Amino acid sequence: MERYNRILITGGAGFIGGALIRKLLKESNSHIYNLDKLSYSGDLNSINDLIQSLGGNTKERYKFIKGDISDKHLVENVINQIKPDLIIHLAAETHVDKSIASPDNFILSNIIGTFNLLKSSLKYYEKINEEKQRKFKFIHISTDEVFGSLSEYGIFNEQSKYDPRSPYSASKASSDHLVKAWFHTYNLPTIITNCSNNYGPWQYPEKLIPNIISKALKQKLIPIYGTGKNVRDWLFVDDHIDAILLVADAGMPGKNYCIGGNNEQTNLEVANKICNYLDKINPQNISYKSLIKFVKDRAGHDFRYAIDSKLIKKELNWKPKISFEKGLIITINWYLNNQKWLYKNY
Ligand SMILES: NC(=O)c1ccc[n+]([C@@H]2O[C@H](COP(=O)([O-])OP(=O)(O)OC[C@H]3O[C@@H](n4cnc5c(N)ncnc54)[C@H](O)[C@@H]3O)[C@@H](O)[C@H]2O)c1
Repeated sequence: MERYNRILITGGAGFIGGALIRKLLKESNSHIYNLDKLSYSGDLNSINDLIQSLGGNTKERYKFIKGDISDKHLVENVINQIKPDLIIHLAAETHVDKSIASPDNFILSNIIGTFNLLKSSLKYYEKINEEKQRKFKFIHISTDEVFGSLSEYGIFNEQSKYDPRSPYSASKASSDHLVKAWFHTYNLPTIITNCSNNYGPWQYPEKLIPNIISKALKQKLIPIYGTGKNVRDWLFVDDHIDAILLVADAGMPGKNYCIGGNNEQTNLEVANKICNYLDKINPQNISYKSLIKFVKDRAGHDFRYAIDSKLIKKELNWKPKISFEKGLIITINWYLNNQKWLYKNY
């Protein structure tokens, strides 16, 4: 990452963006600019704590800019002022259930916000000299959900057709199409990553794994949609960050890279594994498993996602380092030790 001096990260107060910024502050000398509107899922504590503990010049290498990417003037000003040589775009509304209940913000942040970033990035890119243009990249962080739902068979790869089925995945698919259009039509050097479900510390507890942990620790019913048979491919967040940084370093503009953990689990398996571990390290009178309750299925619930990561493995030599068993233990221990944060947020 040493080739990038000025990195603009959108959504850096979120779960994945925060992990990315922490890694860059620890392991690079780049200047990091974090543009985030601080919605309900945004939290700067993990970054601010790290800056305190690292000391030295870290504070000077990091700037937080509170702002909404759906504001085109703000986006244009930020890009012109920062003059980034790399943009990693993560800011988005991300919770499928919220997108079903109230899709408006998903259209604004995920579609209009991405459009504003692309337009302003292109305007900026066309003004910089050739040497800077050769270096510049716009990386758009997307999801496997844009490809729709699989049956028990099959796997998504870079050639999979787009078939989004929720307002969230439709808004992400729209943003992917815009990103591709800006590459093909205007030659803006963009790359898309389509990653499977992430988990790890600092994830907002509306998402499956921290939600199960939170409910279990509070001895409340653990809601599982339908019959619990829906399958997701889980990837520890730090493995996703490694992939994003490899793409930034050596990924090919115009491409999209599929990133997955090769680790398919039904929702019920995930819940059982969390309960088994909690039974071991934090036993109660009855097993945590007795708290699991099947609830009415999510509307349009995608049955299964699975990702074939061959391309990024072959081209960029990426592979996940953290097994699901190990990642889950790290994650559960983190939430156990940070219950104040967990309950403040949920
Ligand atoms: N979490 C996953 O499993 C997963 C998997 C694949 C891809 N992704 C993608 O990765 C990105 C980050 O996901 P996450 O899990 O960290 O989400 P998150 O909800 O934890 O964080 C999103 C961040 O974006 C910010 N944000 C939202 N709308 C904004 C706006 N209009 N302007 C500025 N900031 C705004 C929020 O304040 C928050 O800090 C998203 O684009 C998501 O689609 C997530």
